[in-house]
Amino acid sequence: MDTVCIAQIAAYEGREVELRGWLYNKRSSGKLHFLQIRDGTGIMQCVAFRDDLGPELFDQCDHLGQESSMVLRGLVRREPRAPAGFEMSVREVQIIQAAEGYPISPKEHGVSFLMDQRHLWLRSTRPHAVLKVRGEVLKACRDYMERGGFMLVDAPIFTPAACEGTSTLFETDYFEQKAYLTQSGQLYMEAAAMAFGKVYCLGPTFRAEKSKTRRHLTEFWMIEPEMAFCDLAEDMQVAEGLVYHVVQWVLERCQQELLVLERDLKPLEKITATFPRISYDQAVAQLKAQGSDIQWGEDLGGDDETLLSSGYDAPVLVHRYPAQVKAFYMKGDPEDPRLALCVDMLAPEGYGEIIGGGQREDSLETLERKIDAHGLPKDAFAWYLDLRRYGSVPHAGFGMGIERVVTWLCGLHHVRETIAFPRTMQNLYP
Ligand code: 4AD
Ligand code: MG
Repeated sequence: MDTVCIAQIAAYEGREVELRGWLYNKRSSGKLHFLQIRDGTGIMQCVAFRDDLGPELFDQCDHLGQESSMVLRGLVRREPRAPAGFEMSVREVQIIQAAEGYPISPKEHGVSFLMDQRHLWLRSTRPHAVLKVRGEVLKACRDYMERGGFMLVDAPIFTPAACEGTSTLFETDYFEQKAYLTQSGQLYMEAAAMAFGKVYCLGPTFRAEKSKTRRHLTEFWMIEPEMAFCDLAEDMQVAEGLVYHVVQWVLERCQQELLVLERDLKPLEKITATFPRISYDQAVAQLKAQGSDIQWGEDLGGDDETLLSSGYDAPVLVHRYPAQVKAFYMKGDPEDPRLALCVDMLAPEGYGEIIGGGQREDSLETLERKIDAHGLPKDAFAWYLDLRRYGSVPHAGFGMGIERVVTWLCGLHHVRETIAFPRTMQNLYP
């Protein structure tokens, strides 16, 4: 007898199969039980008659709590009224563990309660749908990179220095030295790009974000491509291509999940392969016209990003921010030294920044000056400066936040739902 999963059940119509899973819900009458079984790929209704199970097992099933684990054997029948379109006529039930008092019932619960129960909440349909989309987003990212000839290089997690500013570093004790959890793999990808040309990393990054916004995690995943012999214009093309590919991939493969999440698909379907590009100067002028009190020279706040992107159907690329609000490694714009050759991509529908990147400073002297000006420890960056000593070339890259992208694609209110075990300032458990 085949052991099957619910997602593939249609292929087994009319056959006797074995199903392994957990009890999601049940209804009973005197002589039959409707057992809703979930197996991680779907939920299926299984109908068990007293006469088939025998009185003892039938009574045991009557007292089974939600999430009891079991193996069922029986015949798969087409049943249009059942949620999966099929149901099982159960001949045999084997109870693996009888659970009692499962804290999450199919009724509504508050999110903070559910977050405390995240280890159990994962079993419900909503987290299931979101995490499926996340998995597809990661696949789409890797697929785009592989097709584009990028080589995967994993960046370290322990690092000796800051990449994205010293205020969000998590410090750890590293055998009598200080080490920090990585904020970004970028600096290592620059080394790898000089070795292999086109590279990317994809992994967790850490920031001690003291803000309690719905866009910030302290542990989040980033994909970071880096390309030798690349300028800002080409960097923006790759960023645009990646995001477009991810959107199409998810639209093709995650219809069911997006339906569960009640995501309106129209705004995603409208996205075209070319995204608008505007300079920071234009963005500030546009924002002022829309009523923002932003001044030239300031970074865009979350509200500005929302306001700005609301004017576009596609993600928008905002380039050439003032150097003073950006990281030390950004290359200055030769046409206006106040500006950096950088880009942020803002998602539509008010979801804010999903990508940050740009062209890197490739001159040794300028980079040394910037490291000093930012008050960064030169020793820790000695290896990074070597990259400008031995065959320095124009190069560029970016980082895309996986959770931000999943939040947008799923149409969620808060980024914490897009990772199995979110870490925020308030959340370290479970
Ligand atoms: O703009 P950021 O800080 O850029 C970098 O880290 C560059 N070193 C990347 C590079 O060029 N290789 O972060 C990149 C992206 C943001 O656009 C956002 O999507 C995500 O990472 N991100 C966060 N996501 C969730 N929680 C946070 N606290 C995040 N901080 C950044
Ligand atoms: Mg940024």
